[in-house]
Amino acid sequence: MSEVEQVTTPETAPPPQPWEPRIIAFLCYWCSYTGADNAGTARLKYPANVDIIRVMCSGRIDPDLIMSAFARGADGVMVCGCHIGDCHYIAGNHKTMARMPMVARVLQDFGIEPERFVHEWVSAAEGEKFARLVRQVTEQVRQVGPLDWPGRMRQRGVGHGQDLHPWGGAA
Ligand code: FES
Repeated sequence: MSEVEQVTTPETAPPPQPWEPRIIAFLCYWCSYTGADNAGTARLKYPANVDIIRVMCSGRIDPDLIMSAFARGADGVMVCGCHIGDCHYIAGNHKTMARMPMVARVLQDFGIEPERFVHEWVSAAEGEKFARLVRQVTEQVRQVGPLDWPGRMRQRGVGHGQDLHPWGGAA
């Protein structure tokens, strides 16, 4: 059996792909994830730039998770949970409501554009809202460009740009 080896030369190499934003969306299981599912079932179109991480409740979304997502290559992060009063764990989203403005302020301190971080309530019935939100976030992150976390951290003199947790979280 003969094997044909494919050799990639500069002439045969595929052209470099244009940069596309990578968005991480943390969605609570009971409302927002179902809302995203609803968007899919209704065949609503939204960009494929979003990677969804399902958590049981938005109250589970520790600020460290958001910072880690940025440090590990996300250009934008979305946090979605049930509307206030609808959380299946009663007060989980009250924690979210208290934490997210703090996260936004810390990100600002790190020099990260506000367009890169969005927090919204999305119910199970709001597939259209979810699709619209993904379109909006993808577009606004596209406008501000790639994040380049190591470069940003180097600029600010933090950990030579290599620290994934320059804010002091666990490695
Ligand atoms: S279960 Fe959705 S925010 Fe708590």
